[in-house]
Amino acid sequence: MRIISLMDFSYRENLFSVLFILCCYLVHVSVGIDTITSSQFIKDPETLISKDGNFTFGFFSPKNSTNRYVGIWWKSQSTIIWVANRNKPLNDSNGIVTISEHGNLVVLNGQKQVIWSSYVSNIVSNTTSQMSDSGNLVLLESTTGNNLWQSFQQPSDTFLPGMKLSVNKRTGKSIKLTSWKSPSDPSVGNFSCNSVQRQNIFEVFIWNETRPCWRSGPWNGGVFTGIQIMKLSYRNTFQGGDDGEGNIVIFYTIPNDKELMIYHLNSEGILEEIWWDDQKKEMMVAWKSQYSECDVYGLCGAFTSCNSLSTPICSCLKGFDPVNIQEWNRNNWTGGCVRRKPLQCKRIGNKTTGRKEDGFLKLQMVKVPDFAEGLEGTPDRCRILCLENCSCVAYSHDDGIGCMSWTGNLLDIQQFQSGGLDLYVRVSYLELDKWRNKTIFIAITVIIATLIIVICAYITWRRTSNRPANSNDNIIGEMSQDKLQELLKFDFEKVATATNNFDLSNKLGQGGFGPVYKGKLQDGREIAIKRLSRASGQGLEEFMNEVVVICKLQHRNLVRLIGCCVEGDEKMLMYEYMPNKSLDSFIFDPSKNKLLDRRTRYSIIEGIARGLLYLHRDSRLRIIHRGLKASNVLLDEKLNPKISDFGMARIFGGGEDQANTRRIVGT
Ligand SMILES: *[C@@H]1O[C@H](CO)[C@@H](O)[C@H](O)[C@H]1NC(C)=O
Ligand SMILES: *[C@@H]1O[C@H](CO)[C@@H](O)[C@H](O)[C@H]1NC(C)=O
Ligand SMILES: *[C@@H]1O[C@H](CO)[C@@H](O)[C@H](O)[C@H]1NC(C)=O
Repeated sequence: MRIISLMDFSYRENLFSVLFILCCYLVHVSVGIDTITSSQFIKDPETLISKDGNFTFGFFSPKNSTNRYVGIWWKSQSTIIWVANRNKPLNDSNGIVTISEHGNLVVLNGQKQVIWSSYVSNIVSNTTSQMSDSGNLVLLESTTGNNLWQSFQQPSDTFLPGMKLSVNKRTGKSIKLTSWKSPSDPSVGNFSCNSVQRQNIFEVFIWNETRPCWRSGPWNGGVFTGIQIMKLSYRNTFQGGDDGEGNIVIFYTIPNDKELMIYHLNSEGILEEIWWDDQKKEMMVAWKSQYSECDVYGLCGAFTSCNSLSTPICSCLKGFDPVNIQEWNRNNWTGGCVRRKPLQCKRIGNKTTGRKEDGFLKLQMVKVPDFAEGLEGTPDRCRILCLENCSCVAYSHDDGIGCMSWTGNLLDIQQFQSGGLDLYVRVSYLELDKWRNKTIFIAITVIIATLIIVICAYITWRRTSNRPANSNDNIIGEMSQDKLQELLKFDFEKVATATNNFDLSNKLGQGGFGPVYKGKLQDGREIAIKRLSRASGQGLEEFMNEVVVICKLQHRNLVRLIGCCVEGDEKMLMYEYMPNKSLDSFIFDPSKNKLLDRRTRYSIIEGIARGLLYLHRDSRLRIIHRGLKASNVLLDEKLNPKISDFGMARIFGGGEDQANTRRIVGT
């Protein structure tokens, strides 16, 4: 109504006066200034530019549109942050922006009709309008400098640093972002974003008309608890609280290393955090409110939890079953879940009975449900308050918020991998594991006690009978010195020459059982030599084990033994030389780590798996490596993985599928 009456007014009364003013009174503004006063105007395509040159107020056409709009942009027209005449485009380039004789900032079309106005009533003094450095277009009383109107109070689809999204505690009236209809149409679309204060809980919502489609989770004074990444990267950028005038406000500041960071509600209803990337010279989306499917409000229905990493993404809370199992199995989760066993809590007169019979199941790291009620309190107090009130179905605690409790349906719970809050859901004691646990605990204790007795008895028996250790765990028995002959035997001289007498410069590293050297044979072949230190724990047993295992195996993903040397105390193994050393030298080294791209990593993993498959299934022997780790995976020049270090491997018969290991080895 107000808009229409102003329109009529301006049309009837101003037609003559505006023409008059334009001829004799208005002074045309020169370009490059940030302010216009009562007697001035700018006409398409002129602009007002903020003092620092970053924000421009002027005429533009959106992509794929010929309509003209008046708005504010940052640096270029690809980042429009505010539009004045959103719902009333100019269809030619005859528009002008000026200050009306009543002191309002107005946009007039070619026929001098007001198509947009700041609509401040009862302005008594002269006014000026200024494009400020913060991106706020303001209307000021010329004499006093009082702020009569500002674009920050009437945002379009963009939340800027310095702007305040506020909500009045009493009336619930809030400052809203509203989406464009489409990227080529700035008129008000179906989506809006505002902050909401309910039952002492403050949070931000995105709405599709009146239906919620996303929520931030409760604000705790530092972060929005329902935004998973916020805990880590957003500390101190957002601030919020009571402004002392009955409003709860939220605003943010740009991190020091960024030139501009804005929140933009796009025409699909997704809130995007956009940064200016100074290297690429373009705006870059750094975060979106729709990160996964689970961010869709209430996707899974009541008493469910949504986890984007599981399939299906929705599951009933523990102690709850789907309402409609057929629909649920068809991935239609909207029906939600119901309690399996009713709560015991009953109120008789003033007394709560059976409260001891209910308990809480803890959900960790979740986005807590919608419709929380906030109350100050410690975690213990939250629990008691909830237990004593039969309508309370869940509670949670956060240091910044205090207690939160819920009645009715629990809606929009999301499971996070980090961040979030712990939620305690009330269930009947029959759902709790405690009483079952007691039985299990006793049973386990009895079993363990029996085991200990048996083991002690066995050890004593073995000691007294003084029998040699069961040889099933090592395979030295299989190995005769003759078999070693089959291997290419190296004499000590040859090895010493190859390594320049075990020169330190040839040392590649130190293994668990002794140093490893690089050597060059006379024929030019490069080899790696594992020299068992005399003091090492690896006895002849492990050594022979390794020799036998390796000799019997041939696979491109197993390291190849070239020979060995046993002379007196000296025991050495010669392998093909791997120029790229072991996998751990890559993955745990921040600089070398980058050399492994996705494809290489995949092929390394595949190679290791092939090697293992061969060991476990395809080789003539069945072998369990028992010491597989990144440092035992060597990489050749083409980064092909080769499993090495069979010192602890265990061989089973070719037909054996199962076996028991008596000795615990490896890391
Ligand atoms: C907005 O809502 C109207 C009707 O309510 C619908 O026709 C239109 O497709 C919606 N637009 C978008 C972008 O969802
Ligand atoms: C999903 O299930 C609900 C009942 O649980 C039903 O009312 C609704 O029509 C179903 N939606 C679809 C798309 O099948
Ligand atoms: C139980 O909680 C509900 C919802 O918070 C509240 O309205 C009601 O007064 C509480 N009842 C008691 C006895 O505290």
